[in-house]
Amino acid sequence: MSQLKPFIELRRSILFLLLSLIGFTQLHGQSQTNERARWFVDARYGMFIHWGLYSATEGIWKGEPLRNANNYAEWIYYRNRIEKDEYLELMDRFDWESIDPEEWVLLAKRAGMKYVTLTAKHHDGFALWDSQVSDYDIAEYTQPKRDIVKELAEACQKHGLKLGLYYSHWVDWEHPYGWDHTKEIYPITAEQYDQYWQEKVMPQMRELLSNYGPIGMIWFDMWINHSESIISKEQLLQLKSLIRTLQPDCLVNSRLGLSMEEDSDIDYRTLGDNQLGTQKLDYPWQSPGTVAHSWGFHQLDTEWKSTTSLLQALIGNVSLNGNYMLNIGPKANGKVPYEISQRLLEVGQWLEVNGESIYKAEAFDLPENQHDWGKITYKEIAHGIHRLYLHVYNWPYNSQLPLTGVTTQAQKAFVLSDKLQMPLKMKHQEVLTSIELPAEQPDNLISVIVLEYDQKPEIQENLVAKTVDGGFSLKAENAFAEEGQVSRFDYERGGTIPPHVLVEDTYQLRWKLFIDEPGNYRVDASYSFQGKKSAGRLKVLGAESSLEQPFAPTGLTVGEPNSDWHIPNFSSHDLGILYFPRAGVYEISMQVEARKKLPAQFQWLWVRKVNRN
Ligand code: GLC
Repeated sequence: MSQLKPFIELRRSILFLLLSLIGFTQLHGQSQTNERARWFVDARYGMFIHWGLYSATEGIWKGEPLRNANNYAEWIYYRNRIEKDEYLELMDRFDWESIDPEEWVLLAKRAGMKYVTLTAKHHDGFALWDSQVSDYDIAEYTQPKRDIVKELAEACQKHGLKLGLYYSHWVDWEHPYGWDHTKEIYPITAEQYDQYWQEKVMPQMRELLSNYGPIGMIWFDMWINHSESIISKEQLLQLKSLIRTLQPDCLVNSRLGLSMEEDSDIDYRTLGDNQLGTQKLDYPWQSPGTVAHSWGFHQLDTEWKSTTSLLQALIGNVSLNGNYMLNIGPKANGKVPYEISQRLLEVGQWLEVNGESIYKAEAFDLPENQHDWGKITYKEIAHGIHRLYLHVYNWPYNSQLPLTGVTTQAQKAFVLSDKLQMPLKMKHQEVLTSIELPAEQPDNLISVIVLEYDQKPEIQENLVAKTVDGGFSLKAENAFAEEGQVSRFDYERGGTIPPHVLVEDTYQLRWKLFIDEPGNYRVDASYSFQGKKSAGRLKVLGAESSLEQPFAPTGLTVGEPNSDWHIPNFSSHDLGILYFPRAGVYEISMQVEARKKLPAQFQWLWVRKVNRN
């Protein structure tokens, strides 16, 4: 659902300051969580199960692959225009002897997941429980009767996992008045839709909430707001109030069709499919994700994500106060594809050792993308014992891990997977903690370094972090102040043109950085300037020194060979040396003087200690 489009934004310095203040001071720990959702927030990781009649098609119908680029095999009934009778014949392909929902629960448990959400009724309208409301259900077509919701609920109870049920309320391809996107062309009336609602949705929900013990959450699936759909807000409120009455502890996600902003009684926000978090939120939220693309089992969908990338999805979300629900699409015989179970078990093994940094952990107060080596989570593990968990995605080649912005001195540092907690050497200077890592990363996937404190570590805001390379990359995004008006380009031509600001006037940025080693620092500037002769000026001030240079023409480069696609060239220019006499926090400012007819496109300043004279 994420739209990767270039965007241009005009900002004034006051707005920038305001936004940075909000960004830096408000969204720290997870404060806006109601009691009902506490278990969910603590759990952080769950299993999604897409399983139904569609699983038996394996993404292919009468020799033809699913008709849609997104590979969502559970849509095959709609996409490939299947007739209901033929769809039901798929029941013959199921191997009921070998289908055992307890196996899914055991897999979830071994994978370190704390809850399981099953597609009780997906868009095809087919119920996986013994429903008295409609005979379009599994009990009707099995001998002896099966009730998958019941079997799963029992297995969850037995193994201590929470049970979630996916229920497609908006879309239902079976009921004549349920929503089916062809109704955009052949409409139904609001009254007809309400008939579906009252005779299928409400009574089925009542069954699910009455007959299967405690339900941890109902996972609704409408990815647009109710105002854009045939559903009325009243219908949604009626449904929610049924849940609140029958199971007051059951969570409801925002895909009910009501955003959390519109109704603060919604328990958590569900992002788009496979959409990971990008910013801290102080209320509960979740990303549903797949190991390849399809949710339901699809024979031809084999672009499997690596275990590391799945783990990074989980860690990244937790570092932003989020939750991750990873999908399995079992086959018609109930078995989970090896490529999925293997990855889940690998993540499970990692969690077995490192789970402390995930469960009950939350976002830390530093800005989300401050460090180029990975992600941070935080937890108070016992009264007066506070830990930061540094998830090192990029193991530094020189074994030095710099953490910028924490002013409190850590009491110890160790590798989380090290049972002996052998202390790692570290050095603390004002706002910089430098940790000496083992030369090789200890864990195959992602290693976690623990920093332990006797209080919640305090931070200094607005600092640019030292990179793994030991330098500082100063950009418009990590400046603490900005003056002047620019157009901002974050994403252009598939990322071939780097993020930059287009300056047509006088413009200033200011950064703060902590210099731990005094001395000479070289400053490079990356920009593009399409003038024919040198013009405008770029001035950099830091400590007592200043550097100045006119923009030099950078010409064009080729975006893609043989495509007649010539794009502005961004190149690095040596501005000279800044001298920092002693260790401490310094402010660096940059001024750009450009003109409307001769704009400059600024990308970054790179500041790095000169080791050789
Ligand atoms: C979408 C799809 C659906 C899938 C769901 C999972 O809404 O319509 O097939 O179940 O996303 O997040």
